[in-house]
Amino acid sequence: MIGRRSGPTSGTAVVTGGGAGLGAAIAVRLAARGLRVVAADIDLAAAERTAERVGGVAHRLDVADAEACRALVAGTPDLAVWVNNAGILATGPGWSTDEATRRRMFDVNVHGLINGTTAALEAFRPAGRGHVVNVVSLAGLVPAPDETVYGATKHAALAFSVGTQLDLVRRKEKGVRISALCPDGIWTPMLFDHVDDPDAWPSWAGTMLQPDDVAAAAVALLDRPAPVRSVPRARGALARLYAATPGLSAHGLRAVVWRAHRKQRAWATENARPAVAPVPPAAAPGPKAAAVPGTAAVPGTPAAASSTDPTGTPDA
Ligand SMILES: NC(=O)c1ccc[n+]([C@@H]2O[C@H](COP(=O)([O-])OP(=O)(O)OC[C@H]3O[C@@H](n4cnc5c(N)ncnc54)[C@H](O)[C@@H]3O)[C@@H](O)[C@H]2O)c1
Repeated sequence: MIGRRSGPTSGTAVVTGGGAGLGAAIAVRLAARGLRVVAADIDLAAAERTAERVGGVAHRLDVADAEACRALVAGTPDLAVWVNNAGILATGPGWSTDEATRRRMFDVNVHGLINGTTAALEAFRPAGRGHVVNVVSLAGLVPAPDETVYGATKHAALAFSVGTQLDLVRRKEKGVRISALCPDGIWTPMLFDHVDDPDAWPSWAGTMLQPDDVAAAAVALLDRPAPVRSVPRARGALARLYAATPGLSAHGLRAVVWRAHRKQRAWATENARPAVAPVPPAAAPGPKAAAVPGTAAVPGTPAAASSTDPTGTPDA
């Protein structure tokens, strides 16, 4: 039963960064909806794992390569959906991020998203229909101290996404839609390596989400497109408020960071990995023995309940 659906339920969906984390969860949701999925990832082995899981196709793609994005579009005649999800995170104050890291973050998080969007539009605009879903972050709505450069990339990504949607509206190209998704922290491989990183506190400032919950919100945008959709919605409103009052926000920053660090430490304890709590080889496997690196939080197997704190400041 299609119900109130108006978005595509057939054709092909490309998911960049589809090999892991949120991208893999989105791929699962899109396949369940009836779309053929191309998991496009710089890590081909990871893309192949997703493709096998969803009965789709794996494709090696570096989103920073504009020509490669265009070639993928050209080779996908029934393209209906393009999800720009690939992204990378490095933490630290703005001055501490070296130039190569800064440039790579902009290449992937900004140029990668622009490459994917413009490539997809080459097919969608002549056809008069198609959906681009851009995975941004709450860090696109409000500056994220200590994830400063990452936040800068996400601001640029959001401006491009909303701006291009308005470009389409202005030209009355109503069949082509661009939606941006701005989630709070998500428990994916992106954060696994940062669980003990004090500079990653913005990712723990609010609600730690599970990939499938965010994937559901991403795929729902196909039926109800929106220029910007925050997850959770209330955190988006709060992020905008903080962004509008940077002077005031600076006063409350110490308390926000303190609370976030407390939540991050609790999260690290609840999601301990073998490096933190090794299991002797002969020991019978207990609950934590199964937690080989990363698997404690593979999509769909949450190791801890989400926590909700609507008072936090930026996310990641
Ligand atoms: N995890 C979070 O807390 C969080 C919160 C808000 C937004 N986001 C955003 O969600 C998106 C997905 O993040 P995630 O948490 O699933 O990350 P992740 O690191 O778990 O997975 C990212 C995937 O992208 C791939 N990738 C990296 N660089 C690539 C490139 N140049 N070309 C193609 N693929 C590439 C990786 O190989 C990996 O498979 C990112 O844009 C991220 O910024 C993440």
